[in-house]
Amino acid sequence: MPAAALPESAVSVAPGVHWIGAFDPDLRNFDIILRTANGTSYNAYAVRGSAGVAVIDTVKLNFSETFFRRLESIADYDEITTIVLNHLEPDHSGALPELLRRAPGATLLVSPQARLMLKGLFDPGEFEGRIAFVGTGDSADLGDRQLEFFNTPYLHWPDTQCTWLAAEGVLFSADFLGCHYCDTRLFNDAVGDFRFSFEYYYAHIMRPFRAHVRTALDLIEPLPIRIIAPGHGPILRQDPRDYVARYRSLSAPSLHGAGTKTLLVFYISAYGATRRMAEAVAAGAESASSAAGEVRVSLYDLEGGHAQPFVDLIEEADALVFGSPTINGDAVKPVWDLLSSLTMVDVKGKLAAAFGSYGWSGEAVPMIEDRLRRLKLRVPLPGVKARLTPTADDFSACHDLGRQIALHLLGRATPRTIDMANLV
Ligand code: FEO
Repeated sequence: MPAAALPESAVSVAPGVHWIGAFDPDLRNFDIILRTANGTSYNAYAVRGSAGVAVIDTVKLNFSETFFRRLESIADYDEITTIVLNHLEPDHSGALPELLRRAPGATLLVSPQARLMLKGLFDPGEFEGRIAFVGTGDSADLGDRQLEFFNTPYLHWPDTQCTWLAAEGVLFSADFLGCHYCDTRLFNDAVGDFRFSFEYYYAHIMRPFRAHVRTALDLIEPLPIRIIAPGHGPILRQDPRDYVARYRSLSAPSLHGAGTKTLLVFYISAYGATRRMAEAVAAGAESASSAAGEVRVSLYDLEGGHAQPFVDLIEEADALVFGSPTINGDAVKPVWDLLSSLTMVDVKGKLAAAFGSYGWSGEAVPMIEDRLRRLKLRVPLPGVKARLTPTADDFSACHDLGRQIALHLLGRATPRTIDMANLV
């Protein structure tokens, strides 16, 4: 939309509730990783009660002027008793220090997890005695209405929380249930079709934290929500529960294979050596299945696949094994591409291992293992490296690697004995 069409004043959301945020229609890339076809909005809100005004979230620093203009159109600074920051990322906290200066009677309410982050925003000494930490069960009194807080960490930072205005059924949800979609018509029943943006935002921002998404949904689903007021994108006043239900569906564990442990073996091979090692790993894993439990083993050649379906599979898998030759002292690009996509899903705690053939140095295996550990996967077994053509011993080691990983999944792995003499 042309800049001239942007509304300059605060927008009424519900009785005593105004949107006082900012539109950023020209943004095409957010946080480096997120593309946005038509910009975003930084949503901030003001809630008026009989005993004071609360400001909920602010905007990115370079949109401060607009934010303050909209705020001043509906409240005086000396009326502001409460400032709530549901999330301290700079796109929401850019105007916070200046707001605290302009509203000297206001107390800042944030989650306990925000404590350390505040030090990165300003010198806490400047606002000594004006910061309080709130969690689930706490509330802020505005006289005839209260704000209640829900501690909802990792949506998508540790500090994130939601704020509930029961009097009007408004949930201020920060990034949760938001999206990068700039449309000055502002409400979901008035803007263009933003379904793609909503799902894209979930996939890139919330999906890695889907267990936390489910925990947050447990907290907010019982609320009689009439309006969801997120930190970005359209305000959801028409059928808001549909969006909550969509998050529930997107974050649900897959029913496919429920109860069966799954192990994925990914490989790429220049001359067939790493491929045959992959087949030995898969066969070893298969051999561990028995009446005591089953491991479903899948083998994928990265040369023939697209990353996205693999990411979906990885999210559901219990163990991941990666095979790569070493070329020029490194694992090969398709393997790194897949490893880089692991940040899109929750892989923490999954079992993992690596293997591969090499010519003279063999760095690929330890490099993959290092990456897996840094992503907080568990790598309990040393990888297998084979120089040029794998020997029978190499294939046996691969078979054992697969078998041991599978036994770990089934809880039947032999506990490792540590020779204390090796520790000195
Ligand atoms: Fe919209 Fe995580 O900031």
